[in-house]
Amino acid sequence: MAKMAASMVEGGEDSFRKIFKFYRRRNPPPDLSDVIDFSRCAPGEQVRAKRAPGFIFISDPFLRGTQPFWLRQCLKIYPQKPNICNLDMHMSPLETQDVWGQSEGFVFMRVQTKPRSLCFLFYARKSNSSTYSPSSHTPFPRDLHLLSAHMTAACGFPGFISEAGILNYYRSDSSLGIHVDESELDRTRPLLSFSFGQSAIFLLGGPRRQDPPTAMLMHSGDVMVMSGPSRLLYHAVPRILPAPPGRLALETGGCIQTPPPQEGSVVEPVSEEEWAVCSRYIQSSRVNVTVRQVLAPGQNFPETPRSHQTTDSGQTDGYDDGESGKRKRSSSDSPYAAETH
Ligand code: OGA
Ligand code: MN
Repeated sequence: MAKMAASMVEGGEDSFRKIFKFYRRRNPPPDLSDVIDFSRCAPGEQVRAKRAPGFIFISDPFLRGTQPFWLRQCLKIYPQKPNICNLDMHMSPLETQDVWGQSEGFVFMRVQTKPRSLCFLFYARKSNSSTYSPSSHTPFPRDLHLLSAHMTAACGFPGFISEAGILNYYRSDSSLGIHVDESELDRTRPLLSFSFGQSAIFLLGGPRRQDPPTAMLMHSGDVMVMSGPSRLLYHAVPRILPAPPGRLALETGGCIQTPPPQEGSVVEPVSEEEWAVCSRYIQSSRVNVTVRQVLAPGQNFPETPRSHQTTDSGQTDGYDDGESGKRKRSSSDSPYAAETH
């Protein structure tokens, strides 16, 4: 990293953008030798970054055979009503009623005609903007909250309340532009990120948009916690990469292992039919789930809706060139409107 970062920084203030473009490049493909791969860490081991206090990388802590359950939830259950999803903007209510049943999951591939991520929102966030809306929310899925509360508690943050979740569905040519997640009213709570399916390069920058980022690999099952000062660092996903052999921890010779029953576990078995759809989908796609606490305990939304100036920075059309940052945007260039073009 040091080698490349140094040469990039000489170019001036735009080093994050240059590095984003470097890793997103197709021809010739980028040299990945500077990308950190934590996959040799013990499963569930927490890696804490000296350069980014509060950033915790947990290499696949999932018990063997449990990832298929979470993948099924992301593809089949969470997109269903009453959850709010941006498919609503270009499909009729009848079509979005049961995305899975209608299309056997292929709607995820069909809708993504552009190399952009497709998101579903669970809770308290308008489907067409990054502003959380107190008037439109649905209950947060209990299983995903239990997982998130367990992970955050294990990292030293008890009492986490999952209030918003965003699902990003990436094709092999998708990317997510440089941004900070700052829509939440309370930004002191950790933000959790789960990866399933194909691998990706994650760029973690600094508090200023131009700070040079560190590149790291995310594989299926990996969890990242952005807590403390790292909560508001710039980051991006310039590239999806094929999962290394065996690292789609889901492949168990064509059929899934039934996880051993665990006391109090929310994980249920996935049927053969469901798994057939999920496993086909992740052969070329990546699913990312971020879970956020929006309000501090006892905190309320302000009386008037928050303006766009205070929303997430730049998960917008910046997908194409890594260019975004803190620009103001209208509802039409929200990241979650990306699929309507
Ligand atoms: C996000 C995000 C990263 C990823 O949704 O805000 O940064 O790994 N996702 O997809
Ligand atoms: Mn983010």
